[in-house]
Amino acid sequence: MRLTELSGWQGLIDKSRQLADQHLSELLNDEARQAALSFNSLNKFHLDFSKQRLTADVLSDLIELAREARLEDKIQALLSGAIVNPSENRPALHTALRALESGSAFVADDSVADAVNASLDKMAGIIDRIQNGTWLGVTGKSITDVVNIGVGGSDLGPLMSCFALAEYTDDNSKDIGIHFASSIDGSQLAEILPELNPETTLFCYVSKSFSTIDTLSNANTALAWLEAVSDDVTALKQAHFIGISTAPEKVSAWGIPEQNQILFWDWVGGRYSMWSAVGFTIALQIGMAGFKQFLTGAHAVDQHFSSTELAHNIPVLMGLVDVWNCNFLGINAHAILPYDGRLKHFPAYLGQLEMESNGKSVTHDGQGVNYRTCPILWGEIGPNAQHAFYQLLHQGTEPVNADFIVSKSRNIAMSDAVQTSFKEHHELNVANCLAQSRVLALGNQAMSDEQVQSSSVFQQYAGNQPSTTFVLDELTPYTLGSLVALYEHKVFVSSVLWDINPFDQWGVELGKQIAKQLQPLLHGADSGAVDSSTRSLLKQLTDS
Ligand code: F6P
Repeated sequence: MRLTELSGWQGLIDKSRQLADQHLSELLNDEARQAALSFNSLNKFHLDFSKQRLTADVLSDLIELAREARLEDKIQALLSGAIVNPSENRPALHTALRALESGSAFVADDSVADAVNASLDKMAGIIDRIQNGTWLGVTGKSITDVVNIGVGGSDLGPLMSCFALAEYTDDNSKDIGIHFASSIDGSQLAEILPELNPETTLFCYVSKSFSTIDTLSNANTALAWLEAVSDDVTALKQAHFIGISTAPEKVSAWGIPEQNQILFWDWVGGRYSMWSAVGFTIALQIGMAGFKQFLTGAHAVDQHFSSTELAHNIPVLMGLVDVWNCNFLGINAHAILPYDGRLKHFPAYLGQLEMESNGKSVTHDGQGVNYRTCPILWGEIGPNAQHAFYQLLHQGTEPVNADFIVSKSRNIAMSDAVQTSFKEHHELNVANCLAQSRVLALGNQAMSDEQVQSSSVFQQYAGNQPSTTFVLDELTPYTLGSLVALYEHKVFVSSVLWDINPFDQWGVELGKQIAKQLQPLLHGADSGAVDSSTRSLLKQLTDS
């Protein structure tokens, strides 16, 4: 049922109108409200929604709205392997990838636990050989570097996590360089390859479909580069490529032998796939034990999501707060602001997770929506963004909802003298995180009276920009796994309220087809059938 047809809709519209005149600064001196909007129900996390423009009463109406949308049933359907992706006739069982020993998920009556564990074992075996030097390149040398070739879900998760968890690198992987190449223009390979030795480089060719042209073109370039050390293409593919995919026949047809293939399944969406063999580089970097911690952290959130009542269920609350901002307060921009340099790639990762999932405008039964769905999401490391786009957040014309993410403790293993300096960094970082969410909420009210009086018209702060603050105990494989799973389930919750399918992505297909049609025009084929703008640009790009 469409969101606007739920009986709780109108009441919430009325409440949003009442709240429209109330500035956040008027809400932030209320201890009872503070307690009602802060949550410790998830191990190692504290969530503070108090800087959102809502009251406990609104939150409880939103929970009722979710009940009316049958959210509880839909969560159980998701987690039990029901077909929650009807346009592709599939379940979305990424949660089964992280259930480890406790796994009991079924797809069409078949338990998936054995297949998941066999895949993890195969990963472990290959990682072991790379780490102990027995995986040999075509000239008999051990591997020094691994390059992940993939795009979208086959790149963003591993890239984000490897970067975030670099401090947790497994001792046995300390000397192995891990690199990423995704873009179709080849620019990343152009940068990476000159630094690498083809005799000791292994490529991890990751593609769920094994038919993505971006990834194929990068793999072909890698192969051409490897040919400097051998003209035996078959041997090169066997010694220098691992294939990670759901399509073994295509991996074999490209020349990667079965023993170098690690498979996953069509019930794992690309943007939900880093928990599978797609996370190979994560496991290589932090070791299998670390990777299992990462899975365990995500699994803890799955259990919380499955068994916690809606009123204390963190991903449910996150989803409802997003719906509140988007559909009731008209806030259609969402900034992701980690106060942690290690989460540099997290906003881009969430960009795919959220916008490819919920960037939809047709409901499950094929009606157009008459409300907004996924907001525009972007972000940057908060302390850096403070010196860049925060100007718009503080004094622009756009309402923006923000997520501040910060760790309670930060340990950097360095000498005592440097440790002291890093401690100061952490304090500065935390103070800045709190200052920014405070100023965004309060605006001028964060200033003293004298400061307000002496401020010019250009130094005014309207405030009233809502935010949520996530406090992690510390960033570890476990908590990163939890953090990502929180957002995954949040996306599902919003999709239920919006009555859209978060697990397909038909919107990305047409561009791929049109690119295929346009490529021959770059070689002079008749461009008469294309629009005048594209024809003119083709001319600009091909005229010598
Ligand atoms: O074009 C979008 C998309 O299909 C994403 O959904 C996916 O993560 C990415 O391309 C890569 O796809 P594949 O893993 O099949 O190469």
